[in-house]
Amino acid sequence: IRDELDTNNFLEIETPLLTNPTPEGSRSYLVPSRTSQGSFYALPQSPQQYKQLLMAGGFERYFQFAKCMRDEDTRGDRQPEFTQLDLEMSFVNREDVMRLNEELLIAIVKELFPEKRIQQVPFPVLTYKEAMEKYGNDKPDIREDKNDPNLLAFCWVVDFPFFEKTGEDNVDETGEWTFTHNPFSKPKDENMSDLMDKKNVGDILTTQYDVALNGYEIGGGSIRNHNTQALRTVFEVMGYSAERIEKNFGHMLKALASGTPPHGGIAWGLDRLMMILLNEPNIREVIAFPKTGEGKDLLMQAPAPTSDKNLRELGIEIKK
Ligand code: AMO
Repeated sequence: IRDELDTNNFLEIETPLLTNPTPEGSRSYLVPSRTSQGSFYALPQSPQQYKQLLMAGGFERYFQFAKCMRDEDTRGDRQPEFTQLDLEMSFVNREDVMRLNEELLIAIVKELFPEKRIQQVPFPVLTYKEAMEKYGNDKPDIREDKNDPNLLAFCWVVDFPFFEKTGEDNVDETGEWTFTHNPFSKPKDENMSDLMDKKNVGDILTTQYDVALNGYEIGGGSIRNHNTQALRTVFEVMGYSAERIEKNFGHMLKALASGTPPHGGIAWGLDRLMMILLNEPNIREVIAFPKTGEGKDLLMQAPAPTSDKNLRELGIEIKK
């Protein structure tokens, strides 16, 4: 992956792990600060904002093997701590990002898994509507022969709805609507005026593209909304107050307003991809020292209570 991206003029850049929580769909893990008692860092759910700030800063092609942390229930294809191949590019459209990633996936299979056969190249592209109608889900398993362990059926899914009605399990809901994928995505051009007018909200489509493999979502990304007024409107549709928008996203709006080029990117779930390529039934099989279903590291016995001295230094009292 490094060689391929190097050839394509990408720079590998690391971004912070101690950061500030932003709504990205899950709960963040919090880290208490000793020097600012009562304040907390959050561990990143993804480097989404940092990579967009890199685009603002003129780094036109970025990638990173990023550790991501999400406080959500563990499943067969999900761990609280996982690795993304994360990348972002300036001056691109949806097809540019899809093509580059498709070529990279094909190169990986050819070089490392020569015994495997890719069902269809170029990868078929389905709309969200087609996927739901034909397969009943948005990461369809389109394999012609589901018993063939060496068959890889990649496909792209596009044209997702931008917003959905807020459900009870939404972590960060404040209003009637929430984003389906990524609040920083750009709506499709033909839906931009509806967004600005806050009209037909449920019909607005996003530039989001997901890549599915044998029934798993292995990656997703989008072209970003680099129009600050439009991004502000997204947060307004979700019911965020002007103060909250400024507090949570002021830095992004400022950066985007400073002449940030149009940009877009994607992230793959690298462990999840490896699980499928290696025909493993569970993501735990491809992670050294994975966590249990309850998010525990039984070997290190984490998480664990801490000493009174640590708590005092952090200004924290544990409620009995
Ligand atoms: P998203 O949240 O879709 O997008 O994550 C990208 C990919 O990461 C994988 N993934 C996981 N793998 C293992 N365990 C988990 N808990 C887990 N959660 C997600 C999935 C998923 O497709 N910042 C955006 C990307 C972008 O827009 O560029 C993001 O994180 O395979």
